[in-house]
Amino acid sequence: MNDTLQLESSVEVGRLVLLSPSAASTRALGALVGRLLEPGEVVLLSGGLGAGKTTFTKGLVAALGSSEEVTSPTFTLLRTYASTPVVAHVDCWRLEDLNEVVDLALEEVLDEGGIVVVEWGEAAAPLLGAEALVVTISDPGELCGSARRVELCDPSGRFRERLAALAPRLARVGR
Ligand SMILES: Nc1ncnc2c1ncn2[C@@H]1O[C@H](COP(=O)(O)OP(=O)(O)OP(=O)(O)O)[C@@H](O)[C@H]1O
Ligand SMILES: [Mg+2]
Repeated sequence: MNDTLQLESSVEVGRLVLLSPSAASTRALGALVGRLLEPGEVVLLSGGLGAGKTTFTKGLVAALGSSEEVTSPTFTLLRTYASTPVVAHVDCWRLEDLNEVVDLALEEVLDEGGIVVVEWGEAAAPLLGAEALVVTISDPGELCGSARRVELCDPSGRFRERLAALAPRLARVGR
């Protein structure tokens, strides 16, 4: 299986579109993104059931030095990993009320230098989206097997330079 991430297009600075052929490459992309994050930053993950949001998060958390198992915190809403920085992993799949996210006190996590990663992140965008990196994972179509299209979007411009620096390195990810 080809595990190499491919840069599909970088139509403008601050937005990268990639093809991730396998779970391994999506994990590797999560690791790359994890390494470019700074304390107090937010990643919002979008994509349907089984798109690969948790797979991406596994790579991100591992790259920040935690060997803990990462699973969808679907029934708990929040799991925290003892990585450096700490990662608060939120899953908004069953969210009924944004106040449930308010109650998680994620601002405190961010103020203390933690990183917040949110599956079904669009649900939390009104609260956490102002300067978030938005990662959207989708099925690129039937001809691509298990590949996923992954868009890294930076609406605030906070990640602009880091995303631009990431692009030339993508061909070297995976095997
Ligand atoms: N290119 C790929 N990228 C990511 N995952 C892939 C890919 N190809 C196959 N997979 C598989 O798809 C599944 C993705 O599951 P994962 O739990 O990461 O999705 P999710 O978006 O978190 O789902 P949920 O919405 O249920 O939380 C895994 O079993 C993974 O091995
Ligand atoms: Mg998940």
